Amino acid sequence: MRVVLGRDEVGEGSWAGVADRRAGPGARASGPVLAVDLSGDPLVFGTDPDHRLACRPLTPGDLEALARWVRHDHVARWWVERPTPRERVRSWIWEVNGRSVGYAQDYPLGSGVIGFDYLLGEPAYVGRGLGTSLLWVYLRDVVVPAYDGVRELVAAPDHRNAASRRVLRKVGATEGLWTDEPGSARTLVAHHLDVARVLA
Ligand SMILES: CC(C)(COP(=O)(O)OP(=O)(O)OC[C@H]1O[C@@H](n2cnc3c(N)ncnc32)[C@H](O)[C@@H]1OP(=O)(O)O)[C@@H](O)C(=O)NCCC(=O)NCCS
Repeated sequence: MRVVLGRDEVGEGSWAGVADRRAGPGARASGPVLAVDLSGDPLVFGTDPDHRLACRPLTPGDLEALARWVRHDHVARWWVERPTPRERVRSWIWEVNGRSVGYAQDYPLGSGVIGFDYLLGEPAYVGRGLGTSLLWVYLRDVVVPAYDGVRELVAAPDHRNAASRRVLRKVGATEGLWTDEPGSARTLVAHHLDVARVLA
């Protein structure tokens, strides 16, 4: 089912909260209310009864799948390990109907600001809306509750990574500064997600 909200209908509440209330308990029985496309007006949410989406901590047993995923062309083109490893990185596996399909990580960047990266590794799952749904579940249910006082979530894909930039817009992030990454030829585009407005 779909929940379609005009931006001017949302008022002071968070988009996720208003969509949850609008969907009601009957709709939520078919799964959580997910972002479908929050990039424009109206905001479009929906449920997906065919896919059970989950996120669990990475274990050593997942490293083989992760190594395989980062070699697939659609990931290898864009996935770059940061030159300086970050401290306090939390690592997660994304699951669809109990099958491991992707990876995500989050880490503090500063006061109230959390960074995140993600990949949908299994090629058969790409391009079906699942990246958007998994990112939404991960950010709302795993990232936001873990950090006291979190105000903003930030990811910075390569400016040529159209799929990633589109998925970030679909979960309600807005585009910020373009920066040339020091020590590489890449230009990154920061995307910012306002936690109180979109997710809280
Ligand atoms: C980014 C990623 C998670 C998206 O997953 P996904 O399941 O394919 O995403 P969805 O199907 O939910 O949405 C993809 C959107 O990007 C669009 N898109 C995909 N390729 C595109 C391209 N080359 N140009 C423009 N838009 C493109 C799709 O049309 C879709 O938008 P739409 O629903 O408005 O049509 C997946 O492609 C991935 O893991 N990529 C490699 C790793 C990566 O780039 N990680 C991000 C690092 S910051």
